[in-house]
Amino acid sequence: MASKSSSELNVLFAVSEYDGIVKTGGLADAAGALAPVMKAKGHNIRVIMPAYREALAKIETRSVASGAVAMNHEETLWFGLRHGQLNGIDIYFVEYNDFYDRDGIYSSNGHGFQDNSRRFAFFCKAALEACRVMSFQPDVIHCHDWPTALLPYYLRVDECQSDFFKTTRSLLTIHNAAYQQHTGVSQLDGIGVSWRYFNSACFEDCGQINLLKGGIAFADKINAVSPSYGRELLTEAGSHGLVDSFRRRQKDLTGILNGCDYQQWNPETDQLIPTNYSSTDLSGKQLCKEALQKRMGLPVAVDKPVYGLVSRLAEQKGFSFLMPALWQFLNQDVQVVMLGSGDSHTASELRKLADYFPDKCSFYDGFDNALAHQIEAGADFFLMPSLFEPCGLNQIYSLKYATLPVVRRVGGLIDTVDDYDASGSEGTGFAFDAPEPGALLSALHQSLDVYRDSDQFDRMRKQAMACNFDWQNAADSYCSVYQSMIC
Ligand code: ADP
Ligand code: GLC
Repeated sequence: MASKSSSELNVLFAVSEYDGIVKTGGLADAAGALAPVMKAKGHNIRVIMPAYREALAKIETRSVASGAVAMNHEETLWFGLRHGQLNGIDIYFVEYNDFYDRDGIYSSNGHGFQDNSRRFAFFCKAALEACRVMSFQPDVIHCHDWPTALLPYYLRVDECQSDFFKTTRSLLTIHNAAYQQHTGVSQLDGIGVSWRYFNSACFEDCGQINLLKGGIAFADKINAVSPSYGRELLTEAGSHGLVDSFRRRQKDLTGILNGCDYQQWNPETDQLIPTNYSSTDLSGKQLCKEALQKRMGLPVAVDKPVYGLVSRLAEQKGFSFLMPALWQFLNQDVQVVMLGSGDSHTASELRKLADYFPDKCSFYDGFDNALAHQIEAGADFFLMPSLFEPCGLNQIYSLKYATLPVVRRVGGLIDTVDDYDASGSEGTGFAFDAPEPGALLSALHQSLDVYRDSDQFDRMRKQAMACNFDWQNAADSYCSVYQSMIC
């Protein structure tokens, strides 16, 4: 069969988060940046997501259609389809109030919703039905993480006889394989998965249903969000327990590094920071630093090195060794500013630290996009000592803001940060290996030494700012993967 021109592709992005509408982390940034870049490449992109209460409050939509979804032989549910636009992208919302008209996307007050498997199973089925009611025949359905991992299964198994989806292929992008969504086997019927596929090659995982595992088995292609993470997924230690699943799909698994949306994250144009600056004149960064110190209630002192952190409060981000390291490191003449939301125990540990070092450490417990930008701009160094990191966007933002990242040598952090030691050409940040306070402390002390050597510090900052991780490269790679599926 002749290959279809890549400019003609109909692509459905099935996502659970989208920047500008709902966001809990980098998945939203990635989806919200990639969709417009793919559209600019000529693809016909439509995004579909659940009509969360928060989403409908954020963006104007209108009802355009409705459809019915058979969850199994006995249960049919009706959904409404709404349409809105964001930055020229058509976004469709699956409306079903019992599932989505509530506070929270996956959880509320720190508790995951009990019916998450059903909520997203329904969403996946509705996304397929929405294509039919819109007469939009996708060449590719691009799924992201466990919330849309059932879609490839429904496409391959439920729709195997369908003319409408005969040529549709699915790509599952793995942003984070640690989140898999397990559910009891009694739910098989409720999520419309056949007993035939409750086996260790498909959905079965220690007696439970594992949604992500099923997606890995049924997607036509799979990609991790960085080459290094793609390799880690093929190892016992880095696969989050799914090594056999990933190895079975090794020939269909690639790693595509995320990009940075420089329209949003660029100190030359950022509207959320007090003063803009560029690599030819960093004086504005100094003003951003003073404003940050003030905002976070710390003494305004331009000579003191400021370490920033913006993070989901989750085990993934390395708090188990970051915390003890900070208790020691804060005895130095430094300041640490932290913004985070998530796990309440971690939040209370961070508060204790800030209370103990009130002139050196400040913690804001919550989700605040403007403050995230101000930390990127005002800090000298950025803390990202993750236990694992599929890609990581914050360290990429840091580079652009001349805020040198201190990272663990893992996943996408390897692919984006050039270690000061190893590079021989100054580097763009500081990397360490062992997930232990001692290893992190050595990297922190190394950063302090560089800070004290202003020439060297300056050279590293300029090198960091010169890095370019725009989404074009990623988009080219995604185009190739799409093309490889439809040929
Ligand atoms: P992850 O997706 O694992 O959380 P990333 O580095 O890929 O990590 O992306 C995190 C994104 O979420 C960044 O845009 C970051 O600025 C944002 N973010 C994380 N925590 C917060 C917070 N508490 N307030 C504002 N933004 C946050
Ligand atoms: C996930 C990962 C993060 C990645 C983001 C966007 O949340 O934890 O490393 O950058 O997705 O792909």
